[in-house]
Amino acid sequence: MLSYNPVIKWIVRGLMLAMFLGCLYMPYAMFGVLPMFTFGNEYAAAEDALQKDRQGDAIVPAKISDDMVIGEGKPFVSAEELAQAKKDWMWCGFCHYTAADAPHRIGPNLNGIIGRRVGSKDKYFYTEPFRAAAKAGTIWTEESLNAFIADPAGLYPGNRMRYAPVTDPAKRDRIIKYLKAYTQ
Ligand code: HEC
Repeated sequence: MLSYNPVIKWIVRGLMLAMFLGCLYMPYAMFGVLPMFTFGNEYAAAEDALQKDRQGDAIVPAKISDDMVIGEGKPFVSAEELAQAKKDWMWCGFCHYTAADAPHRIGPNLNGIIGRRVGSKDKYFYTEPFRAAAKAGTIWTEESLNAFIADPAGLYPGNRMRYAPVTDPAKRDRIIKYLKAYTQ
């Protein structure tokens, strides 16, 4: 019978092993998840610092209300722009918090990212391109952030942030404004 053929038996075993290894690798390939280095245990302690914003589905620092970020001299000109920015931010927020006392998620906490050294957050396991930039003392600017989200795999090749390029410049602007607004 076919199933007793030893060659086929080993091919099937090989396929099963390949599938098993594929399952282990998938979360890394798709989301850059490293279970050993994702500090979920800090999450409960940090809950207080965050609130779920139902309107925009974003998780924002509880201390910062809408009126603090909309108006003259503030990041957003209108409630509509802020609502749109929260939507644009939604996927970033899946992997990053911005509140000072919030933990890391899949990606590092982005509090104060503009003006901060690249790859410099404590207790976060960065990949080599970010570690090299940290050593070189590279600072995140609005321009470099803009270039990074326009092509996450391009600016720091080999990093493990899995996100599609944000091709719309207006959307990139709003995301950067969001980072500024929710970082105080
Ligand atoms: C699927 C998860 C995921 C999503 C979505 C994501 N990121 Fe990241 N991000 C990461 C990971 C992981 C790293 C660390 C990469 C490394 O060390 O190679 C990172 C790193 C960064 C850094 C560098 C941080 C530092 O400390 O230098 C910035 C800035 C950043 N992301 C911004 C964003 C923005 C803005 C968005 C939305 C447009 C976004 N990320 C979406 C996972 C994600």
